[in-house]
Amino acid sequence: PPVSPFAIAFDAERLTLSPEGPTLTRRMSDLEGLFLDQSAWAESAAGDNPVVYTVTSSPVPEINRELPQSITTIFPGATAGELWMTKGHQHPDHQGEIYLALKGRGGLLMFDGERVEWLDMTPGTIGYIPPGWAHRSVNTGDEPYAFLAVYPGGAGHDYGWVLTHGMGSRAYLDASGSVDLRPYAG
Ligand code: PA5
Ligand code: NI
Repeated sequence: PPVSPFAIAFDAERLTLSPEGPTLTRRMSDLEGLFLDQSAWAESAAGDNPVVYTVTSSPVPEINRELPQSITTIFPGATAGELWMTKGHQHPDHQGEIYLALKGRGGLLMFDGERVEWLDMTPGTIGYIPPGWAHRSVNTGDEPYAFLAVYPGGAGHDYGWVLTHGMGSRAYLDASGSVDLRPYAG
């Protein structure tokens, strides 16, 4: 049965939802095969295995016609220079999605298999992910980067697509601290 109308109290400082649904914690060990430098990844995953990001969801089910929301918080860091990021995924049925940047500085990297797009995300930026574009978020700053996602409940997450096709680019910082997008490779 559909969810009844309800309000969520969002604490913009603490980035919490009330009521809230499940929270997911992704540590370095959960990001296998994603960073270019696999030995740097393995060392970190086998070492202190830091939390790279968390995803807190609203209590809306991930089923067709519902419109769930989540808040992702990516911690600042880099692995062999490659900025900390989400795993990235494609939606199996190519449904669209919107992100709203809340805190910190980040980027929204999108790839449709041929074209790459990068959106700078700072608090107040709405990033639109069109149907058929795989998407990955990156922390480009030195504090946590957080954003709200709103997505069709039936969108799903195809993580294998990114392992097969990549994301088109990888994000680093250059000497002046600007984002340096490099060809995906590896
Ligand atoms: O729905 C989304 O696209 C986001 O909520 C992501 O799932 C979230 O940012 C975590 O990224 P990923 O699912 O690629 O690990
Ligand atoms: Ni998505």
